[in-house]
Amino acid sequence: MLSILRRTRAILTAALLLPALAAAQEQWSFPAGSSPFIIDRMVKVASLRDGDVVVDLGSFDGRIVLAAVRSNPKVRGWGVDIEANLVAQANETAKRDGLADRAQFFHRNAFDVDLREVTVINMWLFRSLTQLLRPKILAEARPGTRVIVNGALIDNANMMGNWQPDRVDRGDGSQSPILVWVVPARVEGAWSWQLPLGGGEARSYDLLVSQQFQVIEGHARVGNRRESVSDARLQGADISFTLEVTVEGIGRVRHAFSGRVEGDEIRGTVTVTPAEGKPQQLPWVARRGTAASWFRTTGVSIK
Ligand SMILES: C[S@@+](CC[C@H](N)C(=O)[O-])C[C@H]1O[C@@H](n2cnc3c(N)ncnc32)[C@H](O)[C@@H]1O
Repeated sequence: MLSILRRTRAILTAALLLPALAAAQEQWSFPAGSSPFIIDRMVKVASLRDGDVVVDLGSFDGRIVLAAVRSNPKVRGWGVDIEANLVAQANETAKRDGLADRAQFFHRNAFDVDLREVTVINMWLFRSLTQLLRPKILAEARPGTRVIVNGALIDNANMMGNWQPDRVDRGDGSQSPILVWVVPARVEGAWSWQLPLGGGEARSYDLLVSQQFQVIEGHARVGNRRESVSDARLQGADISFTLEVTVEGIGRVRHAFSGRVEGDEIRGTVTVTPAEGKPQQLPWVARRGTAASWFRTTGVSIK
């Protein structure tokens, strides 16, 4: 039953979009909203680099993946479509153009693909489908994976529900928008690390992070002092934030952290600037922990 519903919806997607597209096909030999111009823009917005693996969920005749692999000989990609004839056509074009070693197309539902090895996901589907693919993307795609969505002919508000795009490319203003999301690393929870400040023994730091997609907030504890972090940013696996806190024996210290999240570790650097003293750069390695040390009692009774 579910598969019939999905197929009906997918056929409706194609049926509703493609006639509008066909009108302009005579003029450009390309569907409207997917003209050569927007294909080039999609590829450009993706900022493709060597080693990228592009997937197009609903690849139609293969145009996006083929344009991507043509644009860089070190990029490969694949596409899936629920229409078998379109998949065959895309594979034929890849073979004809000598690209079949780097571009393949499969007759498959977008919900049934493995997104773990891709670095760029392209989509031009109904908003309901895009929204339904969101949990799969967030669960499977690696942090830093760019998700590029063509907003042509679609009311693109809340295309990914309350996950806001990282960027919207509006071209010259008259063109349809292209929306870009970057899959964020999962950083919600407790982190801890140590820093040897001022030549003394290492001090313990605890950080609690709350996260809504790419938006993060943090509250840190150093000794018995707690402070909120500021300027917290997360883009893919890259995290940065500032912490200004009083460190016992040193005084007020500004810390600018930046690093890369890799599973249960963050590795990077911190620039430590005491109120009186020179900035010092130190390596920073944080590990996922429990919130216990953040909540431990201070031992100081307040009467
Ligand atoms: C508007 S076209 C997108 C073409 C191309 N991706 C682009 O960006 O120009 C949408 C395509 O998605 C396919 N499609 C719709 N639902 C799908 C699903 N659940 N799984 C795979 N393909 C689907 C349709 O058959 C159609 O070819």
